[in-house]
Amino acid sequence: MQPPGEQGAEFDAYAGEYGAGMDNSVKALLGESADDFVAIKLRWLLHRFPDLRRRDESFRVLDYGCGTGTLLRLMAQEGLRATLAGCDVSSGMLAEAARQWPAELPAPAFHQQTGAHAPLADASVDLVVISAVLHHVMPVDRPGVYQELRRVLRADGRLVVFEHNPLNPVTRYVVSHTPIDRNAILLRSGEVGGALEKAGFAGVHTGYLMFLPPRLQALAPMERALGWLPLGAQYAVTAHRP
Ligand SMILES: C[S@@+](CC[C@H](N)C(=O)[O-])C[C@H]1O[C@@H](n2cnc3c(N)ncnc32)[C@H](O)[C@@H]1O
Repeated sequence: MQPPGEQGAEFDAYAGEYGAGMDNSVKALLGESADDFVAIKLRWLLHRFPDLRRRDESFRVLDYGCGTGTLLRLMAQEGLRATLAGCDVSSGMLAEAARQWPAELPAPAFHQQTGAHAPLADASVDLVVISAVLHHVMPVDRPGVYQELRRVLRADGRLVVFEHNPLNPVTRYVVSHTPIDRNAILLRSGEVGGALEKAGFAGVHTGYLMFLPPRLQALAPMERALGWLPLGAQYAVTAHRP
């Protein structure tokens, strides 16, 4: 286990040129930009929770392990009015997120984590998203992350975990050839679902996405029809805090 203060250092090194793995030639063939991949997750989120479009500033969203803030930025650019915040172990990623944030959009609060701990009050968030983070967290440290996600959520608050699906061969190939993933340990959706139940979450549900690369997203309705099939490049586990 790395000391909490050192966990971000590994990712600081990638922050300046972080392109969500777009340095991988296969990934670059599948989509034009990092935004394209994250946009598929946002579409999935809005399809699963259409109420997000109707929420106002009183609805608080936290992107845990936000990296350079791409998902938050796409949410804001999509016109969501919720109050957005991000946290990360890497001060370099957070600095880059703040630097890249468009001046014309209300800026989120970006919080530096200490290990799993995010400096947010108990039960202060309505929706937590954690995307492409858990595979960077050592298995022994994952229960601490689940507990933290539960701590910051209000009762009935929702959690969405997006992760790389190790059952998809293209995902495995891309991960094994992407520098930021050199220490990654992929985890199956069942591991996430079981761990969330153990951590006290309820209503665990798993769906699969990214059967088609971003360049073929004109066929997005087909994606939704396949959402039950555990072969998408990504999966999403949702749950709520009872
Ligand atoms: C592959 S990036 C994903 C960034 C962003 N969530 C996205 O989807 O674009 C992984 C991020 O997880 C962060 N990270 C790694 N371990 C973490 C932990 N224990 N808690 C929070 N963030 C962590 C890294 O600093 C990095 O910003």
